Amino acid sequence: MYYPDEVIEEVRSRNDIVDVVSAYVKLKRSGGNLFGLCPFHSEKSPSFSVSPSKQIYYCFGCGAGGNVISFIMQYENCSFQEALKTLADRAGVALPEQETDQAARQEQSLRSRILEVNKMAAAFYYYQLRSKAGAQGLEYLKGRALSDETIHGFGLGYAGKYSDQLYQYLRGKGVDDQLLRESGLMVFDERRGMLDKFWNRVMFPIMDVNSRVIGFGGRVMGDGKPKYLNSPETRVFDKSRNLYGLNFARRSRARVMIVCEGYMDVISMHQAGFINSVASLGTALTSQHASLLKRYTDEVVLSYDSDGAGIRAALRAIPLLKEAGLRAKVLNLSPWKDPDEFIKANGNEAFQERIDAAEGSFFFELRMAQSRYNMADPESKTAFFREIAGRIAGFEQEVERENYIEAVAQQYHVSFDGLRRMVGTELMKGIYTGQGNAAGGGYALSDRSDEDGYVSTPVRKKDLTADEGPRRSQSMLLTWLTEYPQIFPVVKEYVAVQDYSEGFCREAAALLYDQLEQGPPVPARIISHFTDPEDQKKAAALFNTSEPGLGGEELKKAIRETIRKVTAARQKETGLEGGMDMAALKQMIDRKKKLENLGKLEIPL
Ligand code: UTP
Ligand code: MN
Repeated sequence: MYYPDEVIEEVRSRNDIVDVVSAYVKLKRSGGNLFGLCPFHSEKSPSFSVSPSKQIYYCFGCGAGGNVISFIMQYENCSFQEALKTLADRAGVALPEQETDQAARQEQSLRSRILEVNKMAAAFYYYQLRSKAGAQGLEYLKGRALSDETIHGFGLGYAGKYSDQLYQYLRGKGVDDQLLRESGLMVFDERRGMLDKFWNRVMFPIMDVNSRVIGFGGRVMGDGKPKYLNSPETRVFDKSRNLYGLNFARRSRARVMIVCEGYMDVISMHQAGFINSVASLGTALTSQHASLLKRYTDEVVLSYDSDGAGIRAALRAIPLLKEAGLRAKVLNLSPWKDPDEFIKANGNEAFQERIDAAEGSFFFELRMAQSRYNMADPESKTAFFREIAGRIAGFEQEVERENYIEAVAQQYHVSFDGLRRMVGTELMKGIYTGQGNAAGGGYALSDRSDEDGYVSTPVRKKDLTADEGPRRSQSMLLTWLTEYPQIFPVVKEYVAVQDYSEGFCREAAALLYDQLEQGPPVPARIISHFTDPEDQKKAAALFNTSEPGLGGEELKKAIRETIRKVTAARQKETGLEGGMDMAALKQMIDRKKKLENLGKLEIPL
């Protein structure tokens, strides 16, 4: 679905970013910008900024950024189209009828109709639980120590003893059979026709981050099998992308997010005040779950059952969480099975103590790996330490490696130097085979290996090629251009669009220069130009690179210096690019002359 640029710009410009963000984040003015606690990572002091003049937001802590449309996409976890629609409605802008293909439109309406049916079903179950027929369900839930408030908050319900109650109810509401099949709420039986999937169970509506009912879980009120019955995957229910309880947990602002296995665990934890908990509902944690979590936190505490299956699930989840950039810890609740049982037996404070004592994922993995070795046998024990060394060698930064070497040496009572040499050997392996270990990635050869085979500072290829300096100068220049458009005529004398690094930076520069030629710049509009949220984030970062607090002469000096850096870097690059013909030579001399005059350049601030 595509909307013309003018429409997108109309919607964007009619929604002031400060007004929109204020509805979600408490903002305080400081200088030209507003600051607040970042809703996209947990923090104690505000590093989330909103610029009324640029109409963009940017977090100096986690790098989240974009314009008002990106903000809604990121906060509501929705698509560009959905965000645009929300903002169009908000500002009373009528979006043009889409000329989408028939199929896409039908799909869209099917999804919303299924959501509608789910909502009706949830209301039906909710009502049943409070009716006379639902007494047994209510008794069961109360027996599990849930308060009225909790039962209400999670929208719990009850499916009665007969297997066509919901069917009759929804038919009465005019829902057709075809839609009922798509909803996953019914099963079809050759002989008996359509039947309710859920009956004689207490019902747990499953909601997405926006609190829309996307499916259900139903539990028997006793020991029957299966204990829990879940909605099948439907057009609106994708288990690998949703986490139970996230619609509440995302507002918790806690430092960590607790991930557990079940409905009752989440509900118990929330009731006990730990609203920063979610469940992956019996399915293994996926990489989609991990990146969903990353939107709301930097650290995950895994609370899986303390049996073999739970441990395997944690071992599988850890790399996925790391991959998504999350720190991971593992909660140990033994001898209790799960958070629900633990809290019931020991209370909130004891639970908090266990959270505080959660084991870092690295040591958890080591402990689990250890069971594969015989520590009484020197050979096997050495192999175990070699495995540890290999894992440590996988950390990218030397400081990190050193810290882990130290921690492991302490924990396992081995010599720091010995382990350090082992890590060095593992690093060398990575260098010569060109293969990384655990964490992947190759190493460039360092000249500092000694006879021990110990490499003190292996240099990653990535570090060698990373060329952050010039890029940072370019970003600074772009930021200043948005803040002080009056310097544009002077800047463009020196720095042309081609002087920005090829790719993303140059593309953004071209758009900004274009705007500046025509009048005051609109950075937020440039962000709309990029459709990928990652690009939007990068663009917001480009326009937020200035050194805060710089003013007057100092600022002028900084601008001159930056112009010099960008030009000089470009000079070096073009010098390297192929031979020197007359034209290139002339350009070079011109540049040099200009640079000589740069010190006297008047910056019109
Ligand atoms: P558990 O068997 O650990 O149950 O399953 P639980 O969460 O402790 O439930 P209670 O306390 O006995 O009520 C963990 C999760 O695995 C899924 C459910 O999401 C459950 O919450 N599960 C379990 C099923 O989907 N089906 C089942 O038959 C069992
Ligand atoms: Mn349980």
